[in-house]
Amino acid sequence: MKIAFVASEAFPFAKVGGLADVVGSLPQALKKLGLEPTIFLPWYSGIQGYYVGESRFDFEGQSEQVGLGHLEHGGVRYVLVGLPDFSRERPYGYDDDFRRFVRFSLAVAELLRDFDIVHAHDWQAALLPLLRNQGWFTGRTVYTIHNLAYQGTWGSQDFYAWSKLPGETYYGAGLEHNGRVNLMKGGIVNSDAVTTVSPGYAEEIRSPYFGDGLDGVLREQSYKLRGILNGLDTDYWNPADDRYLSQHFTVKDLRPKAKIRAALLGEFGLEDNPTLGVVSRFASQKGIDLIADALPGLLERGLNLLVLGSGEASLERTFAWMAAHHAGRVAYAQGYNEALAHRIYAGCDGFLMPSRFEPCGLAQMISMRYGTPPIVRAVGGLKDTVRHGETGFLFEYPDATGLLWGVDEFLRHPNRLEVARKGMKTDFSWEAPAQQYADLYRSLR
Ligand code: ADP
Ligand code: GLC
Repeated sequence: MKIAFVASEAFPFAKVGGLADVVGSLPQALKKLGLEPTIFLPWYSGIQGYYVGESRFDFEGQSEQVGLGHLEHGGVRYVLVGLPDFSRERPYGYDDDFRRFVRFSLAVAELLRDFDIVHAHDWQAALLPLLRNQGWFTGRTVYTIHNLAYQGTWGSQDFYAWSKLPGETYYGAGLEHNGRVNLMKGGIVNSDAVTTVSPGYAEEIRSPYFGDGLDGVLREQSYKLRGILNGLDTDYWNPADDRYLSQHFTVKDLRPKAKIRAALLGEFGLEDNPTLGVVSRFASQKGIDLIADALPGLLERGLNLLVLGSGEASLERTFAWMAAHHAGRVAYAQGYNEALAHRIYAGCDGFLMPSRFEPCGLAQMISMRYGTPPIVRAVGGLKDTVRHGETGFLFEYPDATGLLWGVDEFLRHPNRLEVARKGMKTDFSWEAPAQQYADLYRSLR
């Protein structure tokens, strides 16, 4: 069975968050199950593919040419779609993102002739199920919501003026939502199956609190909505064999972890206290501000804080300020840093993830795999992956008091080493979830 994955990120070629981890690793697991996945990705600058030719598609009423590249990674074939406006510093975060990804979707739709399943991810690829229904290609469509907070919306007049899609798709094919074009809604209503990345989030998004305005649509379409928990690339995220670590360890012998920890504290000039790590995008979803609110309480409890992340500028400033004023206790590394992320997962005593909502979350799974118990908010995929007092700690209230309650549970646990061990022994591989995707694809044929 031939499966086309269409997405805006895939590790190691383009990564902003967990979407990249999933798109970069799930296809490899599907391949092991005998499926034939191909990943369609924008040809961002810096990706080394080889040029294989050109294709054409219609955009703004004109035939546009697009250069195509191929590469193979982990045994999986990639098709790189070379469009203008994709050779920028970051994959997205620009004013014209909406238009860039509509163009990407239109270009990809021309390349999907031979696939049994087209699996589109997040708003950036959400136009594809509609394009299938409009006859651009055949095959069944699966749409996966990785994050309902980013829906891809635009003014309808402008959209129809330049996309040249038939105007009747606005109401007729369900692109309209609250008087605007909403790509995510289009993906949900036009696909054959909708998945999201944990059973918990699949339930939550049917409610107004988590549904981001699409809960009504999701309730209506709930017959085809299900949650499949993300897995990890357990070869890449492996404390026994991690290219970014100077020492390696397994569940049988955690001692080398202490050396990684000592080096990490030394590198950031931190005192020898229990240290909580954070690796995160700085977005309101992640509750990073709650950590800042809880800082006095964390310091009072004798804890250090080591934070890696970037995003909202005001949060970056807050953490830079906190690190400057509490040198020795708080350290902040701004930016995206793969190597440091691995050292934080491996070298801290606990890992903080106080998300307001979390579709799945990979960071908490990674920290458990590295024997660093996570302290997380009891929400979405966090609730589905962390067992309170067993593999980590869960708290309910999204505020500083709630967070500190979780931290106290961590501090007063009689055997944190056992918690670390149980986390390390948990199966976070793709094996079971990939099988669920394979079963879903087969059920659609
Ligand atoms: P999200 O996708 O919402 O950002 P996830 O927990 O699913 O959250 O995935 C985050 C991924 O991005 C993890 O692989 C994490 O290690 C990585 N990551 C996040 N921020 C950084 C950073 N500043 N530097 C390196 N890796 C990061
Ligand atoms: C999104 C979500 C995160 C999830 C990731 C991969 O970025 O915020 O919770 O783990 O997608 O599915």
